[in-house]
Amino acid sequence: MRAAQVSKLDGPESIEVVDIPEPASYPDGVVIDVHAAGVAFPDVLMTRGLYQMKPDLPFVVGGEVAGVVRSAPEGAHVAAGDRVVALTMLGNAIAEVAVTPTQMVFRLPDNVSLEAGAGILFNDLTVHFCLRNRGRLAPGETVLVHGAAGGIGTSTLRMAAALGAGRVVAVVSTEEKAAVARANGATDVVLTDGWLAAVKELTGGRGVDIVLDPVGGDRFTDSIRSLAPAGRLLVVGFTAGEIPTVKVNRLLLKNVEVVGAAWGEWVLTHPGYLQEQWAEVEPLLAAGKIAPPRPALYPLDQAAAAVASLDNRTATGKVVVTLR
Ligand SMILES: NC(=O)c1ccc[n+]([C@@H]2O[C@H](COP(=O)([O-])OP(=O)(O)OC[C@H]3O[C@@H](n4cnc5c(N)ncnc54)[C@H](OP(=O)(O)O)[C@@H]3O)[C@@H](O)[C@H]2O)c1
Repeated sequence: MRAAQVSKLDGPESIEVVDIPEPASYPDGVVIDVHAAGVAFPDVLMTRGLYQMKPDLPFVVGGEVAGVVRSAPEGAHVAAGDRVVALTMLGNAIAEVAVTPTQMVFRLPDNVSLEAGAGILFNDLTVHFCLRNRGRLAPGETVLVHGAAGGIGTSTLRMAAALGAGRVVAVVSTEEKAAVARANGATDVVLTDGWLAAVKELTGGRGVDIVLDPVGGDRFTDSIRSLAPAGRLLVVGFTAGEIPTVKVNRLLLKNVEVVGAAWGEWVLTHPGYLQEQWAEVEPLLAAGKIAPPRPALYPLDQAAAAVASLDNRTATGKVVVTLR
């Protein structure tokens, strides 16, 4: 099979398309003919050996796929011929064939294409975990998301209203990304430059109830300043590079929280949680209450460019590599 593989840790440019044997199945394994695979920021970090998961070299890039089941264990909830999305947690996704345990495989609603489906699980279930579990989103609350035209960002814009938010504010670095944020459902869009003052004005000085922050860096203290009383700042990632620190007097003075949100860690320590999440998210996708992603598509030959677009900050929306 053809696959996007890394054999040296020199960043996205070191991704090569190679011919390698198909992965072997195992008793609990579902074999999937992969049509499309999602790209996320951890893939960038893994090409440099900077992510918490460090597979042996060489490894196949990517953590999520959409495709058609070739074979599944008897009695499994999916069977040969089913259109599915699946997590490979992490690596082994951008390849013509993937094998993953049955509990990581989900049937895709008919109204969602395989290309869009490849962009759902990793980000949407992270955002669902962030808003429902860690952020305790209450009906009508205002959510602000940084990096709003990115993968996690566009998931937040697509999902927050369906999960109860009254208003969703997008923070982006360029006008082009502002258009992407609007197209994905942002109620309001502000540019990174001067974002705090703009958000204060938009909210009549009150601030927002939840900040979902996949970016970190030097805007972190301003994110605390942007919270309304009893607001929650969700720490999701650090695409800006720098890991911020927090002076806890700011939390006390404003009655606000800074909350860690590591979805993968939660999934690994809470059996059945993925299924609970899909049971809530799937009907919303099937009913069109959560719009499917509108991914930027790259053919397999351009897998390196697909991952590089997240590294060089040019990606808009979810990035997906197509294989069939
Ligand atoms: N905690 C969890 O469970 C979890 C799960 C999944 C992903 N994550 C993390 O979430 C973060 C976002 O992932 P993603 O897949 O959404 O990434 P993405 O699609 O690349 O989006 C990230 C956004 O970050 C902003 N950014 C600011 N400074 C940047 C820089 N120096 N380089 C690149 N981007 C920069 C960009 O928006 P602007 O240009 O508009 O600023 C970009 O759109 C990553 O750190 C990832 O590891 C965490």
